[in-house]
Amino acid sequence: MSLKRNAPGIKALKGKERVVCVTAYDLTSGMIADQSGVDVVLVGDSVGNVVLGYPTTVPVTLDEMVHHVKATRRGVSQALLVADLPFGSYGASVEQAVESAFALMKAGAEAVKLEGDYPEEIRAMIKAGIPVMGHVGFTPQSVNKFGGFRVQGRTESDPIVAAAKSIDEAGCFAIVLELIPAPLASKITQAVGCPTIGIGAGMDCDGEIQVFHDIMGLSPKLHKHTKKFGDAGRVMRRGMKQYVQAVKDRTFPTSENSF
Ligand code: KIV
Repeated sequence: MSLKRNAPGIKALKGKERVVCVTAYDLTSGMIADQSGVDVVLVGDSVGNVVLGYPTTVPVTLDEMVHHVKATRRGVSQALLVADLPFGSYGASVEQAVESAFALMKAGAEAVKLEGDYPEEIRAMIKAGIPVMGHVGFTPQSVNKFGGFRVQGRTESDPIVAAAKSIDEAGCFAIVLELIPAPLASKITQAVGCPTIGIGAGMDCDGEIQVFHDIMGLSPKLHKHTKKFGDAGRVMRRGMKQYVQAVKDRTFPTSENSF
C-alpha cells in the first residue's frame, strides 16, 4: 500500500492521527525526513537563517525558494512536499500570490504555505489547483512589525483567532500555529476544521512542525520550543576531526582507497 501523502489526506487526519511535519532544504535532509515517516516536508523560508546565513527570513527570494524546492523534491517521495511563499512574493496582490505559487509548484512543490490572513489569495490559489497551508501567530516574515521574536496572542478575542478562522474558511488544508500560548492554541484547534500544526504552541495541536537543524543537533542555539532528538553536529565534528588527522598522519588514503 502506498503511503504517499496528499493535501486532502492530511486534512482528513484531524481528530484521527497526529500530523508530523519537519522542514528540509535539500536532497539529503529531504531524504532523511521522508525515509523516517514524516507526513509533511516543508521547504521553509527558514532556509534563509538556517542554511543561507541571513539574519531573518525577510531577504529570501522566490528564486532561492525554487532552487531549494527542486533539490528537496529529489529526496522526497512519500511525504507531502510543501513550499513557503517568501516575503514579497504574495503581499502585493492576488495575481502576484498565484504567480509565485505557480513557480513553486513548477519546481516540484505539491502545496504552498503563506503567513497571515490572506483569504482572497488562498481562495485564488485553491481555484488554480494549488493546496494551501496557512500560518498564524508569530509569523517570522513580519519580525520587523512585531519588533522581535515574541509569543503572540493572549485571549480568544485576539486577532490571531479570527485570522485562523478566516483562512480555515478560505480552504487551507492545515494551519501552522507558531509561538502561541498553549491554552489559546488549544482553543484555535477546536475552532477550525483543518489540522493545526504547532511550533511553540503547546500539546493540543493536531500536529507538530520543527526545523530539521534544531531537532537533529545542527543548530548552534536551541530555543524553548524545540528539542534535540539527534546529535548530528557532534557526530559530524568527530568524523571530520578524524578525517583531518588521518590525512595529516598519512593513514588515509591507503592502498585500499587507491586504483
Ligand atoms: O520556514 C519555516 O521553517 C517555517 C516553520 C517554522 C513553520 O515556517
